[in-house]
Amino acid sequence: MTRAKILGTGRGLPERVVTNDDLAEFLDTSDTWIRERTGICQRRIAAKETLLELCEEAARQAMDQSGVEAGELDMIIAATLTADHPLPNLSSSLQRVLGADNAVCFDLSAACSGFIFALTTAQMYIQSGHAKKVLVLGGEILSKIMDWTDRSTCILFGDGAGAAVVGVSENEEGILAADLGSNGKKGGVLSLPGRPVENPFRPAEKGPEKCYVHMEGQEVFKFAVSQVPASIRKLLEESGKSIDDVDCFVLHQANLRIIRSAAKRLKAPEEKFFINMERYGNTSAASVPIALDEGIRSGRIKKGDLIVLSGFGGGLTWGSMLVQM
Ligand code: ACO
Repeated sequence: MTRAKILGTGRGLPERVVTNDDLAEFLDTSDTWIRERTGICQRRIAAKETLLELCEEAARQAMDQSGVEAGELDMIIAATLTADHPLPNLSSSLQRVLGADNAVCFDLSAACSGFIFALTTAQMYIQSGHAKKVLVLGGEILSKIMDWTDRSTCILFGDGAGAAVVGVSENEEGILAADLGSNGKKGGVLSLPGRPVENPFRPAEKGPEKCYVHMEGQEVFKFAVSQVPASIRKLLEESGKSIDDVDCFVLHQANLRIIRSAAKRLKAPEEKFFINMERYGNTSAASVPIALDEGIRSGRIKKGDLIVLSGFGGGLTWGSMLVQM
């Protein structure tokens, strides 16, 4: 069977660094509270960049690293919930700026699991022979959907983008397995209202003037600490691998306590978990590809390593992937 492989990765981050102390200037919070409860020290906030610009930077780095030209891409999948505009979609806008004229482009929405869902979709197209080179992105400007007066949410998130070019593996390396899941019954614990429907045939509904993320933090926490280890365990069992075989775990960077709890439940050493949330906060769909790119470029993730990627969040959704680099 044809196997899909990650050929290159990249990331694009806004210039503006916002520290916990910066937030404490206008919110009733403190650096100590945020660090202790979340592990986050600072985040990047798009003070001038568009999401398209961040994604373009990530995509160009991934294409450079993989040696793949824009014209060779036959698909672009962008995972986001904060596209600059609903139309045209982010992936088609990327096609335009990259000159990827032969690509089929679509966006995918699965919140913080979005990149894993998009990577799995790319894997399926490649395995079935319907695509050879796919650009996969996870990108968010979450700062535009935050209520900046709500200290329980806005301190957690940041902006950024990450990308991977996926192609056909020439050997045993590549994406070995994936486990995806959703639980719509629990969707209300992490939500973002849409614009109310208003048309000449329907009385105007009273809706929120501005749409912000609402989160029941402890419910999301409970979901993450049980579902993520369960998904990773299932993935490894089905692949005939053990925790000891894994060189690095790249989990969605939502909260340090969630990652520590996952490590404990999996009986895996914490040192095997890649962590960069202290610098970027939670960038939703972008967090796994940004971490993966940093892991690869810093030498922490090396050729031949067995790694686990895992995302979880709104929907609720979750997804884990086993990759031989
Ligand atoms: N600064 C100071 N105090 C705060 C802050 C803040 N920024 N935010 C909340 N508090 C207060 C609360 O008001 C509360 O005060 P009270 O006891 O007087 O009522 C107290 O701190 C404790 O609040 P909790 O909500 O119980 O704090 P908790 O320990 O649960 O931490 C947190 C909150 C960090 C949000 C945690 O629940 C969490 O990380 N949950 C998971 C969230 C997550 O991972 N979301 C993203 C995943 S999905 C996705 O990525 C889209």
